[in-house]
Amino acid sequence: MENESIRLQKYLANCGIASRRKCEELILAGEVTVNGKIVQELGIKIIPNVDKINYCGKPVQNKKNMIYILLNKPIGYVTTSKDQFKRDTVLDLVKVKERIVPVGRLDMYTSGALILTNDGDFIYKITHPKHEINKTYTVTLKGIIEKQSVENLRKGVKIDEYITRPATVKILKTDEEKNISRLEITIHEGKNRQVRKMCEAVGSKVIALHRSKIGNIDVKDLKIGTWRFLKEYEIEKLLK
Ligand code: URA
Repeated sequence: MENESIRLQKYLANCGIASRRKCEELILAGEVTVNGKIVQELGIKIIPNVDKINYCGKPVQNKKNMIYILLNKPIGYVTTSKDQFKRDTVLDLVKVKERIVPVGRLDMYTSGALILTNDGDFIYKITHPKHEINKTYTVTLKGIIEKQSVENLRKGVKIDEYITRPATVKILKTDEEKNISRLEITIHEGKNRQVRKMCEAVGSKVIALHRSKIGNIDVKDLKIGTWRFLKEYEIEKLLK
């Protein structure tokens, strides 16, 4: 029932703060307040939506109605809730009753992992630069990339007026016959069109761009254009 009392550690865990055991530790460490007072006992019960619970000074949001979706975005879809030019948007692919929005963005001609949610707090945390979540891309480039270019991509290149942070770059393949190279690039920034601009900065033309992973969450088991709910442990891991 909505207003039944529950143990504080259970409430914190239900809200996605941490496992129940870890929440007990947080309570004992004095990190949790109930109605403005620090509580350091495990027996205490609270009434959700009535008692005001704070963790680390911030209100604990009841995540009961929050949803987290992983979409394998196809190319040709715009990452926005509503497009003024009436183009297809990623929300045309995910029909749910909740009002979800994309977390960050993928360009129209980039495919791959995109998270959508109705949890504003999650979006704030995930997109905050200090969070530094790794994003891994498979990039197909025209031509055979030079070793020095790969090294420059690793060290950082100038895009607009910004020097990119060190990136992990692996050469997946070079194909002389087709005259293409394929790289795996992992970055943890989120500048606009960053991967395309990085490749341009070393003189390479991007033929295809796919985001294979956000953190450890891989889209390889999702058919392009399909989606699934994120598992609780995946959400927790992203927030760590
Ligand atoms: N970098 C890009 O260039 N495009 C994207 O969609 C994502 C990262």
